[in-house]
Amino acid sequence: MAFPNTVPRKRLVSVLLFILLLVMLIMTQSHKPTLAQGPISLEEIENPLIPQRADPWMYRHTDGYYYFTGSVPAYDRIELRRAETISGLSTAPTVDIWHKRDRGIMSMHIWAPEIHFIDGKWYIYYAAARTDAPFDHRMYVLENTASNPLEGTWEEKGQIKTAWESFSLDATTFEHNGTRYLVWAQRDPRVRGNSNLYIAAMSNPWTIIEPQVELTRPTYDWERIGFWVNEGAAVLKRNGRIFITYSGSATDSNYAMGLLTADEDSDLLDPESWTKAREPVFFTNARTGQYGPGHNSFTVSAEGDDLLVYHARNYTEIEGDPLYDPNRHARVQKLYWNEDGTPYFGIPVPDGPLPVRFRAASEEVAYLAHDGDRAILDANLTQIERSQFRVIPGLADADAYSLESTNQPGHYLRHRDGVIWLEADDGSEPFTSDATWQITRAEGRAEGIWIESYNMSGAGIVAQEGALVLGPLAEDGAGGGAFVVER
Ligand code: AHR
Repeated sequence: MAFPNTVPRKRLVSVLLFILLLVMLIMTQSHKPTLAQGPISLEEIENPLIPQRADPWMYRHTDGYYYFTGSVPAYDRIELRRAETISGLSTAPTVDIWHKRDRGIMSMHIWAPEIHFIDGKWYIYYAAARTDAPFDHRMYVLENTASNPLEGTWEEKGQIKTAWESFSLDATTFEHNGTRYLVWAQRDPRVRGNSNLYIAAMSNPWTIIEPQVELTRPTYDWERIGFWVNEGAAVLKRNGRIFITYSGSATDSNYAMGLLTADEDSDLLDPESWTKAREPVFFTNARTGQYGPGHNSFTVSAEGDDLLVYHARNYTEIEGDPLYDPNRHARVQKLYWNEDGTPYFGIPVPDGPLPVRFRAASEEVAYLAHDGDRAILDANLTQIERSQFRVIPGLADADAYSLESTNQPGHYLRHRDGVIWLEADDGSEPFTSDATWQITRAEGRAEGIWIESYNMSGAGIVAQEGALVLGPLAEDGAGGGAFVVER
């Protein structure tokens, strides 16, 4: 194609130069790895996922959407949203599908809604009180037959009647071996305490059938701080067992989660089938700045990992009743599993991008971890939080990366004298560049990345005889330099 001589030559050259520059820029950009696009193909999820949404309920439906609801600070309505990704929920449009009444039943403190899909219809379980009895909650159900629950009509199915009338809330339901069950929290006026957990079989999604069986009441100190509470149950079936997490104590920084376990073949309506963990399994962590984590739900990530969805605050000092402090934020993180098939909750991770783990490609199963002081290759995985790192823009160069410990925020992997240490950022050189790394695809390998030193190119974090050192990054990942990135 010949250009007409009308186009001044100088102009043509500058246009061509501009296009060249553009191409080069794109080329360099595509080489800069990002978590979602480059060698680390994990969805980028940031915590808090949704601010000021307590009692977070996330459900992944067969239509490929994640549905999310939870208590809103005004406690005056039920809000629903959906997105195809978990991170998409942060900005997804919300729909208020139901509002409280002006007076009488369901006119005050709308709490802890959950959405479920049962026998082809949508159901929302929630608790509500009355203006003249603001803390005398009862449990209610809404039904919607539309395929998209953000549309259609939500019909009130009424109160879930239990064996006696008293403060009852936080209903959740699950199906097992052909029976649908309801688990909820209710006060037993005959015993001390705000709420115990109960289970009963159901004849339909809004009706329980006798017997109503007590699963647990607040028996341990950690369940009795501020208020004697067992509430916010969530069910997870895995590894031949039924796990029920629940929350105890007042909804301030003392709030924490407990665990009940039953064998999947046991009679779930027999209290003897259930064992209760003596200690809380998930609780406040001052180092990560997460206080009163609890009232969780469970979901599954795009990668197939089990995820824990819960709320927590970033401070301890609450003015007045914690229930009126709006800053319980919805958060999500990976739930791990111990070799014996029990869940490993770990610690509530800090705000910001979800941490990842680096599995040494050259080892059976061993992860880049730390012992509080030095990077180690951890093969026995007892404390998973020691192997969780946040990949953040490099301390010395934002186009590179630094690896911050999840359980020791402010501490980063840095090389010194050929060894990889975990040290606090003192903001000085050479610390910042020793603690900055390039993350690139491990050459010659289908899968895996290199963690290459920013100021010693060609050298990187290398697994050598069970230890981690700064060593040469060999082609095809030989010599222990390749890592596979996982949650
Ligand atoms: O968030 C409101 C209520 O607070 C929840 O229903 C309950 O779990 C907690 O006590």
